[in-house]
Amino acid sequence: MKTDLVGISDQKEEARKEKEMHSTESLNSQGSLDSNREDGRATLILTLTLYNVRKIELSKAAKVFETFETEIHHFETRRAKKSKTSDGDLDVFVECEIHSADISILITSLKRVAEEVKTSREDKVPWFPRKIQDLDKCHHLITKYDPTLDQGHPGYADLEYKKRRAFFAELASNYRAGDPLPRIKYTEQETATWREVYRKLSSLYPTHACTQYLDAFQQLKKYCGYQEDNIPQLQDVSRFLKERTGFQLRPAAGLLSARDFLASLAFRVFQSTQYIRHFSSPMHSPEPDCCHELLGHVPMLADKEFAQFSQDIGLASLGSSEVEIEKLATLYWFTVEFGLCKEKGSIKAYGAGLLSSYGELMYALSNKPEYKLLDPEVTAVHPYQDQAFQPVYFIAESLEDAKAKLQNYAMNIKKPFSLHFDPFTSSIEVMNTSQEVKRSLYQIKEELKNLCLALENL
Ligand SMILES: [Fe+2]
Repeated sequence: MKTDLVGISDQKEEARKEKEMHSTESLNSQGSLDSNREDGRATLILTLTLYNVRKIELSKAAKVFETFETEIHHFETRRAKKSKTSDGDLDVFVECEIHSADISILITSLKRVAEEVKTSREDKVPWFPRKIQDLDKCHHLITKYDPTLDQGHPGYADLEYKKRRAFFAELASNYRAGDPLPRIKYTEQETATWREVYRKLSSLYPTHACTQYLDAFQQLKKYCGYQEDNIPQLQDVSRFLKERTGFQLRPAAGLLSARDFLASLAFRVFQSTQYIRHFSSPMHSPEPDCCHELLGHVPMLADKEFAQFSQDIGLASLGSSEVEIEKLATLYWFTVEFGLCKEKGSIKAYGAGLLSSYGELMYALSNKPEYKLLDPEVTAVHPYQDQAFQPVYFIAESLEDAKAKLQNYAMNIKKPFSLHFDPFTSSIEVMNTSQEVKRSLYQIKEELKNLCLALENL
């Protein structure tokens, strides 16, 4: 997603937009756990090479630092070791302070104007949210299928649609943890799109969806207004999920970076879009929309086993390296999005990408594609694509089997610390000392005592 920039103002505008939209590719950016301070600021040491500095390259880099309100402690330049041009190529050393959540974006933006961008923190631990309120900083968007940028998007030429999308984007970016979810008055055209998707898909569910999905779908019809003439409200759905599995929704403006999306799952928070796909293409959306979230994800999040599986992927992602995040995102893709499972001698769908796509749901269970048994080590590195139907689907023995395999996989991810999710405070505890481990163990011991007593009383 590299962009060629033509001038300083373009560069500043690009970086500003990137910051505003919280857009990032989340690559190569690292903060340190030590610097995960109360105020969220981290010290960063960077080296980079600038070519053509007599032109505007130095100013472009300076604008990036300015845009992200970076406090520069030390800035040093010297003639570049590997000179490419005759216009004064420079190696630059920078020591600066920045908010930990902005490190990724800063580095991504610098990589657009400089080369050899390196940080001394690359071998350390990336910033991650510790409490549910920290998710307010986890909404970096991937602009891959944005209707304002992607000419192939069905809504690209529709100004009204883009205006509506800007409205939804603003709602999501203004949302803060703990706020009620915005209630939407959907237009007739939006409801008509929903109706078409809902009708077609619900005709397939009895034969194609797993039991857990079907059970939850009935409940959602009963309690959350799931019907063809009504787009359910996220607030009602979130309350329903909270009661069933402790999951809750928060509004998202679009496709999020894998790191941010997975981090939310660690807190049993699902980032959900609230807008609907363009009316001209009801059976296909290049990006997530409320049909995908409400018909694909929500029913599965109402299942306890699946909820735990989702949270486990999220917990495994916290503080993981970019390589591990990529693997976990791939695992998520082949399970939560496109997973199949065995059920009484047949194969059923539990993946949201399937359960929200009429064409692919039919195809996935048609015996035409290739099927493989879910094996996280293999699945996590299997190539995938998001432009057409999957050539391969991974089958789990059951959701419980998928969960156990994932837990096993997550235990082997190497991190210099262990994490514990405290359900009472919905926060993540980093267990660096034996005292911290003992405290968590004591909590579990108390719970176990209660459960043993309950068992004895039966
Ligand atoms: Fe999804």
